[in-house]
Amino acid sequence: MVMNYNNIILLSDMDGTLLNTNGIVSEQNKYAIKEFVAKGGKFGIATGRNQMNSVMFLDGIELNIPCILYNGGALYDFKTKQFLLLCELEKTKLIEFLRFCLKEFPDIVILIFSPDQCSVISVKENTDPDFIAEHQPCEFCKMEDIIEKPWIKILFCGENKMLKSLEREMLKFDLENDVHCVFSSGIYMELLPCQTNKGSMLMRLRELMDKDYTIYAVGDYNNDIEMLSHADVGIAVHNAHPDLKEIADVTTVSNDESAIADVINHIL
Ligand code: G3H
Repeated sequence: MVMNYNNIILLSDMDGTLLNTNGIVSEQNKYAIKEFVAKGGKFGIATGRNQMNSVMFLDGIELNIPCILYNGGALYDFKTKQFLLLCELEKTKLIEFLRFCLKEFPDIVILIFSPDQCSVISVKENTDPDFIAEHQPCEFCKMEDIIEKPWIKILFCGENKMLKSLEREMLKFDLENDVHCVFSSGIYMELLPCQTNKGSMLMRLRELMDKDYTIYAVGDYNNDIEMLSHADVGIAVHNAHPDLKEIADVTTVSNDESAIADVINHIL
């Protein structure tokens, strides 16, 4: 029997899932994805990263389906280089909150993501150069300089304790109906438009598809919870956060053991 994957969509998170701890896609993952696509499968990424940044890690990988970027803030077609859907943050109360953060939490690095630009609006003196490198291409500017642009998501980077305290302070700014707050790692807290996450975008993707697909989604952290919940099969990597493992249907090997190849070879 010739196995085919004609009715399968495989969506993979990047950091901690498709990428190993060195930030690289293993040859085993690349080979398995190539075979999966050759046998009719649809492969896409679902990441917190933007299109400029994620593409740098995906050399040799065919993305034959629109991809979920900005933690669900956008659906993007890498083939046509077009956004198919874009969610935008409501700025009014957010600006007040960001001013507060700049003043009271100077050690937190803040990045604002617009469709064509990633802007660093706050940098502490000893900001880890690897952090800035990880978010390239990015520009250093003032919040006021990008006020006219749409903002898709805001990333706060700092010590976990500090971010938790900032999250508590946010309650004073009456933002519950404007933003969705999620941790995408221990040191990253992100704000997205209300009810926007990888799961909400997965549902939009499902609606856009030409037929019914069985969607498998793989992830490692709390920003993947909704995506795994809305997929037909939600898969957590071995190194995943316990909260994600708890809601996953299946667990696979770790990102350092080519988890995506394992999913393709043993779970689909
Ligand atoms: O927001 C950016 C973080 O690197 C999360 O990325 O969704 O691929 O894990 P990820």
